[in-house]
Amino acid sequence: MHKFIIRGGNQLKGKVKISGSKNASLPIIFSSILTSQTEIGNVPLLRDTKTAISLLKNMGFKAVFKDGQLSIIKEANIKTEADYELVRTMRASILVLGPLLSKFKKAKVSLPGGCAIGARPVNLHLKALSKLGAEIKIDHGYIVANVKNRLKGAEIVFDFPTVGGTENLIMAAVLAEGKTIIKNAAKEPEIVDLANALKKAGAIIEGAGTDTIEITGVEELSKMEHTVMPDRIEAGTFISFVATAGGEVVIENFPYQTLETVVKKFQETGMKIERLNSKTVKVKKNNPLQGTDITTQVYPGFPTDMQAQFMATMCLAEEVSIIKENIFENRFQHVLELQRLGSNITIDGNTAIVKGVKKLIGAKVMATDLRASASLVAAGLAAENTTEIYRIYHLERGYENLEKKLQQLGANIEKRRTEQPY
Ligand code: EPZ
Repeated sequence: MHKFIIRGGNQLKGKVKISGSKNASLPIIFSSILTSQTEIGNVPLLRDTKTAISLLKNMGFKAVFKDGQLSIIKEANIKTEADYELVRTMRASILVLGPLLSKFKKAKVSLPGGCAIGARPVNLHLKALSKLGAEIKIDHGYIVANVKNRLKGAEIVFDFPTVGGTENLIMAAVLAEGKTIIKNAAKEPEIVDLANALKKAGAIIEGAGTDTIEITGVEELSKMEHTVMPDRIEAGTFISFVATAGGEVVIENFPYQTLETVVKKFQETGMKIERLNSKTVKVKKNNPLQGTDITTQVYPGFPTDMQAQFMATMCLAEEVSIIKENIFENRFQHVLELQRLGSNITIDGNTAIVKGVKKLIGAKVMATDLRASASLVAAGLAAENTTEIYRIYHLERGYENLEKKLQQLGANIEKRRTEQPY
């Protein structure tokens, strides 16, 4: 296992380039199940993208992944199963369900367990797939699903605009018979990227990015070629690094339109964020930040995946910040670790009250989930002395070459093998 050792206090200076989006790559990788040949560019090299590729290889697909370019070929005998061992390491594996049912009329996928941030059920996915004609039962922890001859388009109204549920349904509907209408669909940019990828292979999808998506099923898809959008959460995370460490950084491949709520919130704290061109911003911290409040919402509201990083920023801001988490029921795991670094945070249900402190003091802390680990890095960059972050395998799920990118900006961070068994 590895840990990060961060010696805080260095300001960040220079340029960083944002990698491809993890949360767009994963559904697009799984949508390759729907066609015979797929070429995907700008795929980030992450624990999660490697897991997704292993899952497809286990099913019998041929995959070659090099320098961000991923080629996937469907071979003769495809096993329409996703084993527990891989699904438990990455919940997004549930996204094979829709494409397997659509293309192969059957699927056996392990029920994804919960994770650190919540129970994360998939009931909405299953209910919607049943409306398209899938027969679904749960057998020994597995979802066993079958379709008599072909999925049939239907009108789906989601109780909650679930990102994964919307993605699974789009992938199920593209080869279904007739028209599917998804109402109360999630509007996240990663869904638009998935729809764009599928449309390049001949899918008929209208309204991706709005709350009503119309899909007209086709007989088959042609070769899919797509370049993944930049990772908006990595981009927002780098703003939080400058907000805690200080300095001035130019961020390239910055997907500005998808981050306007996040940019505005950081500007409210006093961060200077200047747009240099359509894909580049300059982020600067001039003086101590002002506290401000956030409430996580579905897109285009403030994203839950930026909540932990924003909290780390507010630990050193002046006054009080109120942080409300509305999407997941247990997404404050980072609070206990931030408190070990000297922050002043109290939790009341789904609300965290952050009182700014003058300084944080380095300590040993433990990552609990992907974005919590990013918030500990942000805090460690500002903390006095040394911060050691354990269980950074959480972080490696979603950030490509993070320590190298930070070293190039002048941070004193290194990755070291740890003697601890975790
Ligand atoms: C996606 O997860 C992202 N993951 C998450 O990012 C992100 O936090 C989340 O969307 C919200 O934006 C990927 O794209 C791989 P949801 P997903 O279905 O699809 C409840 C990260 O850090 N729900 O929109 O699982 C659920 O419990 C990760 O990169 C049901 O109750 O999110 C949660 O409270 C973390 N039943 C809420 O909806 C269902 O059937 C949002 O879940 C489905 C969801």
